[in-house]
Amino acid sequence: MAVTGTGAALPGQRVTNGDLEKIVDTSDAWIFSRTGIRERRKLEEGLSNVDLSAGAARMALQNARLEPQELDLILVATVTPDYMTPSTACLIQARLEAFRAAAMDLSAGCTGFIYALSVAKQFIQTGAYRNVLVVGVDILSRVTNWEDRSTCVLFGDGAGAVVLQPVEEDRGIISFQLGSDGRGVDLLLIPAGGSARPASIETVTNRLHAIQMNGNEIFKFAVRVVEETLDDLLEKAGLEPGDLDFLFLHQANLRIIDSARKRLKLPPERVPVNIDRYGNMSSATIPVSLHEEAAAGRLKKGALIAMVAFGAGLTWGGVLMKW
Ligand code: UT7
Repeated sequence: MAVTGTGAALPGQRVTNGDLEKIVDTSDAWIFSRTGIRERRKLEEGLSNVDLSAGAARMALQNARLEPQELDLILVATVTPDYMTPSTACLIQARLEAFRAAAMDLSAGCTGFIYALSVAKQFIQTGAYRNVLVVGVDILSRVTNWEDRSTCVLFGDGAGAVVLQPVEEDRGIISFQLGSDGRGVDLLLIPAGGSARPASIETVTNRLHAIQMNGNEIFKFAVRVVEETLDDLLEKAGLEPGDLDFLFLHQANLRIIDSARKRLKLPPERVPVNIDRYGNMSSATIPVSLHEEAAAGRLKKGALIAMVAFGAGLTWGGVLMKW
């Protein structure tokens, strides 16, 4: 099975580092040198996850030349759904009128899109489903503490989508590698709003509905799992890093991306970067990047690509794929 269409949707509103200098004690120089971020997108008030994700989904379907009614499954990777229940996948289904499809959300932090791709692969490989839509979307601006300079400069909003279908040629997901370590739960967490700590005046006053993160620990973990996951994927496939046409890494910090790229001795054009323009969009960073490279004509049929992500959970994962 292969990706037959990609799509992306980004909010129009840009928030630059200069804008953030006005609300917290930070500087463009600090943000850019420590993260590689210059600006991020913020969803306009009145709009929500489904507005963005349905847009990305429609674009992916159009590019795949597939009607919504032909979809068998809608999988949405997100940690910022519109509601605790029902799923965002059901909301997208209603918007698209894709009423033949089963629909569900999947929560695996910033690794969500990779997890969702591997789930889609299973459904297609077993013959259970043919046409699967996978969306990676997050609206992190809605779960950000805008008074916490250690997190509010990092995140952005966006959605990316792909359509996966069986194809005749020898293309598609070659292998995947997933991991999690629940001992790291506290390192990246939204403490309230779930059944453990439902919303109350106290949780709202103490800003417990926003992301709390131990950046240093996550950074070390990220560098390690990116290395290990890539080495593992390549070794099992009998490939060298130089065989990769593209390496798509979760965009959480340019220093993490650069360290992996330099270790593997890959030229910059093979490791796409969009963190400078969009910040960390969690599950959306990789599918948005896939769409940008495909739409620009750089990511072509038959290209060998690897994708690796990491995030809350802790979770991590990688996919090796022939495009
Ligand atoms: O999506 C998956 C999960 N997320 C990640 O992968 C994030 C991984 N972590 C990171 O990217 C980095 O750890 C951060 C960008 C979050 C932080 O960078 P760092 O180089 O690890 O900085 P730090 O947390 O060690 O902070 C260094 C200094 C501190 O000041 P002192 O204690 O040295 O005086 C912070 O208070 O920088 C200060 N600081 C800031 N200064 C200006 C923290 N945030 C800011 C800020 N502006 N926005």
